[in-house]
Amino acid sequence: MSFLLNGRSLAANLRHELKTKVAELGITPKLGVILVGHDPASHLYVKLKEQAASEVGIKVEKILLPTDCPLATIKSHIQSLNQRPDIHAILVQLPLPPQLDETTVIACIDPTKDADGFHPHNLKRLLAGESALVPGVTQGIIKLIEAAGQNLRDRKAVLLVNSREFAQPLAKLLTDKGVRTQVIYEFNHLLLQTADIIVVAKGQPNLITTKDVRDGTIIIDVGTNKIGHRTVGDVDAPSLKNRAVYLTPVPGGVGPMTVAMLLWNVYQLAAARKN
Ligand code: GUN
Repeated sequence: MSFLLNGRSLAANLRHELKTKVAELGITPKLGVILVGHDPASHLYVKLKEQAASEVGIKVEKILLPTDCPLATIKSHIQSLNQRPDIHAILVQLPLPPQLDETTVIACIDPTKDADGFHPHNLKRLLAGESALVPGVTQGIIKLIEAAGQNLRDRKAVLLVNSREFAQPLAKLLTDKGVRTQVIYEFNHLLLQTADIIVVAKGQPNLITTKDVRDGTIIIDVGTNKIGHRTVGDVDAPSLKNRAVYLTPVPGGVGPMTVAMLLWNVYQLAAARKN
């Protein structure tokens, strides 16, 4: 029987712990969120972030901008949030419409208010092994892998991804834990079968099935795909039901953990600013 790595309950525990830390902080951390356009998934993700923030005592100020918003407008909103002392952290919900280059927009955020840890300065520091903000998704995945309770040293991880930006921080943190980590961009059945840890973020339903994994593997499914009204990951979870593997469900795996760890980043940025 596959063993579910329950991100929902792990995230609830982390929020519970964080709520106490926030109450002890003496100030109310405040996160500025910029949301451009009408993409329903992005609106849903922001709503989930707002709900989780309110549960732990973090305030959110949401700025809604139209789909055709020019670069200069979003820049000026970010600059104003950068300058406000009551805002401790800033997040621009991705993806952005095509006229807004994501790298350019993220680079406008003050790196000391970068809630996602996506600013090039913070990514560079992280990859150089200097202390830096870790993206929520990266921290969430690490915690889910650790929740399997296995010794990770000298194990082999295969990260099957679309994006180098996503893979790099995760590969760095796994390598630091002694995990032999390989990043691949194309499906490779033989390589997947040699992995002790698989992280898949391709956005393709049923990409990984029971044939591709061996017993004992920890499988982290970062995919979110819509099939009608259903949300599924990149893993064919029913085909793994009777296999001895660890698996994150979709929904209820990486998603809630990403939000919980984002809020930990907000707390840390507020705490750093207070001192
Ligand atoms: N869109 C999907 N995931 C994320 C995330 O972690 N941060 C932001 N800002 N946008 C996203």
